Amino acid sequence: MSANREHFSSRLGFILAAAGSAVGIGNLVGFPVSATKNGGGAFLLVYALFVAFICLPVMMAEMAMGRKSQKDPYGAYKDLSGGDKRWSIAGGLAVLTPFMIAVFYMVITVWIFGYLVQTAMGNLDALANPSHFGQFINQTSVFWYMLLVGLIVNLILVGGVKQGIEKAAKFLMPTLFVLLTGLVAYVLTLDNAMAGVRYYIVPDFSKMDASVLNGALSQAFFSLSLGMGILMTYASYISKKDDIVGGAKMVAITDSLVAFIAGLMVLPAIFSFNPATNTDELSESSVSMIFEFLPKILLATQSDIGYVGASIVAFIFFLLVFFAAITSLVSIVEVPTSALMEEKNLSRKTALLVLAASTGLLTVLCTMSFGMVDWLTQFVNYGGANKSLFDLVYDVFYDTILPLNGLMVCLFVIYRWKKSNLNAELEQGCEHYKGSFGEKYVNFSLSTFIPVILLIIFVNTVSTKFFAFSIFGF
Ligand code: TRP
Repeated sequence: MSANREHFSSRLGFILAAAGSAVGIGNLVGFPVSATKNGGGAFLLVYALFVAFICLPVMMAEMAMGRKSQKDPYGAYKDLSGGDKRWSIAGGLAVLTPFMIAVFYMVITVWIFGYLVQTAMGNLDALANPSHFGQFINQTSVFWYMLLVGLIVNLILVGGVKQGIEKAAKFLMPTLFVLLTGLVAYVLTLDNAMAGVRYYIVPDFSKMDASVLNGALSQAFFSLSLGMGILMTYASYISKKDDIVGGAKMVAITDSLVAFIAGLMVLPAIFSFNPATNTDELSESSVSMIFEFLPKILLATQSDIGYVGASIVAFIFFLLVFFAAITSLVSIVEVPTSALMEEKNLSRKTALLVLAASTGLLTVLCTMSFGMVDWLTQFVNYGGANKSLFDLVYDVFYDTILPLNGLMVCLFVIYRWKKSNLNAELEQGCEHYKGSFGEKYVNFSLSTFIPVILLIIFVNTVSTKFFAFSIFGF
C-alpha cells in the first residue's frame, strides 16, 4: 500500500495542515483566558519555554515515526518495532484516542456551527441571554447542525490528502488569520481595550505554582496535537526530502502565535465591556466562555456599531472559531481513516462511511448526555461526582490518555526504535541537524526528563480526576 500512499503536494501544504490541526477552539479562547488568570506575561513566557523545550522534541519524534514508516500510527508502531506485539497496544491507543477525541470535539463544533447559523439569522440578542445555551444544547435542531458539520468534514476528507485536507487548509488557515487580525484591529479601538492587553501581558510571577505549571504544560501539549497520532499520520504524507525539524518548528510557532494573538482579541473585548472585570472570576473553560460569556460581549458592541454591526462582528468571531475547529476535526478523523485504509485495506470512501456511522452514533449519544436522556447524563460516578458520557470521553481521552500516548512515543523512539534511527530520519531533509546542539538536546531530553514529566502528569491526572486524590499536591 505504501508505494501509492497519498502525499501532500508541498512542505507548505503539510505545515498548514498540521498547523490547522493544532490551532483549535482552545487557542482562540481557552489559552488567552488561562494566561490572563495565571500570571499574564509570566504564563506566556513559561508556555513558550514548554513549547520549545518539552513539546517540540515530542513533536519531532512523532513526525519522524510517521515519515519513516509511511504508515498510520498503528502501522508505524508495528513496522518500526519489527512486528513486536507489545507495542501494538501503544499503536492501538494512538488510533483509538483520536477516534474518541473526534467524538467530543464534534459535539462542540456542532454547537459553534449552530451559533454561527443563529448569528447569521440575526438572533445574536437571543444568544446573549445567559440561559440560552442550556436550552440550545437540548434542542433537536442540534442534530441537523450535526448532520451538516459531518457532511462538511467528510466532503473535505473524501478528497484525500492533496485535494481534500491540503486544499482546505490552504484556504481555511490564511482566512482564519485575516479574520483574526481583523477582529483584533477592531477590538483594540474600543474603550478600555488597553486595560485588557495589560492584564494579558504584564507578568505576575506570584501566580506561578505547581498547578499553574502543570496546566501550562498540559495546554501546550494538547494544543500542539501531540499524543493524538495526527502528526504521525500527517508526516507519513510527506516526502523524504522534506525537513521535519523546520516543519515542526513552524507548526509550533504558528500555533503559539495564533493563541497569543487571540488574546489581543479576547481580553480587550472583555475589558471594554467591563473595565472592572475580576480576571479570577473568568471561566477557563472555552465552552462556557464561547457560549455563555462572549455572546453578551459581542452584543454590547451594538452601542458602538449598531445591532447589524454587532451581528457581523459576532458572525466573524464564530466563523473564525468554526474554521479553527473544522481543520482540527478533519485532522483527527484522518487518523482512524488512514488506519482503516492501511490496516484493513478499505477504500477511503468505505473507511469514512464506517467512521461516520461509528463516531456519528457516539456523537449522538454524547449530545444527548446534557439532559436529553437521563442515563447518559448520569452515566458514571467517579472522583466524587456523577459524570455524563461526554464528561467521561473528555476526562479519559483528552485529559488522561494524551500524556500517556506522549510517554509511549518517547519510550518507543528512544528504547525500541533507537536514537540512531530517530536521528537519521530527522537528518534527512535537514542536513545541518546532524551533530547540532538541537540533535543532542532532543536525544537527551527524550531519554530523560520528558518521559518523567509526562509520567508525573499522567499519574497526577489519574489520581485527581478519578480518585479525587492529589499525589503530588497539585
Ligand atoms: N489546539 C486544539 C484546540 O485548541 C487542540 C487540538 C489539537 C485538537 N489538535 C486537535 C482538538 C485535534 C481536536 C482535534 O482545540
